[in-house]
Amino acid sequence: MADRLKLAVLRETAQGETRVAASPETVKKFIALGAQVAVEAGAGANAAIADADYAAVGAQVGDAASVLANAAIVLGVQGPEADRLSGLTPGAWIVAGLDPFGRHDRVEAYAAAGYEALAMEFMPRITRAQSMDILSSQSNLAGYKAVVDAAGVYGRAFPMMMTAAGTISAAKAFVMGVGVAGLQAIATARRLGAQVSATDVRSATKEQIQSLGAKPIFVESVAGIEGEGSGGYATEMSPEYQKAQAELVSSHIAKQDIVITTALIPGRAAPRLISDVQIASMKPGSVIFDLAVAQGGNVEGSVADQIVERHGVKIMGWSNTAAHLPADASALFARNLYNFLSAFWDKEAGRPVLDEEIGGAIRLTQRGAVIHPRLLG
Ligand code: NAI
Repeated sequence: MADRLKLAVLRETAQGETRVAASPETVKKFIALGAQVAVEAGAGANAAIADADYAAVGAQVGDAASVLANAAIVLGVQGPEADRLSGLTPGAWIVAGLDPFGRHDRVEAYAAAGYEALAMEFMPRITRAQSMDILSSQSNLAGYKAVVDAAGVYGRAFPMMMTAAGTISAAKAFVMGVGVAGLQAIATARRLGAQVSATDVRSATKEQIQSLGAKPIFVESVAGIEGEGSGGYATEMSPEYQKAQAELVSSHIAKQDIVITTALIPGRAAPRLISDVQIASMKPGSVIFDLAVAQGGNVEGSVADQIVERHGVKIMGWSNTAAHLPADASALFARNLYNFLSAFWDKEAGRPVLDEEIGGAIRLTQRGAVIHPRLLG
């Protein structure tokens, strides 16, 4: 038993973080692979997983020091602060969402301590890595939750209702940014009975919007409008495009009841999609959910974790939307980590051995230094 690779799962300590990086299901699977798993007491409490649930599938449950002792791999949702890792052997891997640009200081601290930090958000967007993609699994849930929470504060119903007392008309919902979160937002708003429209800078999304029964709203008149950059991500658009987009959105948004914004550009602040003037054009009682609020926000005046009222419109957004669905978000995040490590499991070595395509894409630190090209220079 002593030479079985040890995985450590710490309790998340970041403010508002409710998720956990392993579930009883993934613990069981890691043990079946030949690993041992240690879980810090209370790690699953906010995600409705009791210590006893982990113990029942064979995990050792204990305090942080015992969990980290001789661990080869630490699993996290967010990166643990370096001072939480005392006792961890140099050379150990830290596998989590590490916020490499936002928390460069912590990446430096991992390097200084000799840990090998693997940033799950840098997982390449290739077919074989789809099941390992934490951004997808968490964005999907976030898109759902944004619509449900917006519906919760909206003072009207979503579906059309014909009652004896009269008819209620369907809510009009507009989704801006049709990636993983946006697609789920469209589907959720449709299920609730709203009339849905959506826009994106990537023309490939037009068909996806239509296939979900929503109406595409697209800038057609500007040259060079294709906004798809590398890896399927968006690029920053020209000033000419941005102006045309703003005009199109202005006329459309004034008629909307619910707006969900999800637009992100990797490594940059979120693009501003809705101005205060546009908010003022909306009907009082409308709701805007800004899913990009933690990355700078798509909406003027949005504040993370608050419901701000401007011109009678409620503007909201959570800094960590997936954490508002802790049980499902944890289950999927845990599976992403398992799918990743098990895909590279080398039976003879009794541990994962990464290849260059994926290892090189996500490895931030090695042998005491920060090595990732996106973090250097
Ligand atoms: P994201 O979270 O980076 O951005 C959200 C959406 O905002 C994107 O659709 C983007 O085009 C859009 N956007 C950016 N600037 C905008 C603007 N100014 N106005 C309107 N919309 C704007 O995107 P996400 O969800 O990560 O998905 C991006 C693409 O990657 C999708 O095509 C998705 O299907 C693909 N993907 C592929 C995976 C794989 O093959 N392993 C895994 C996950 C996603």
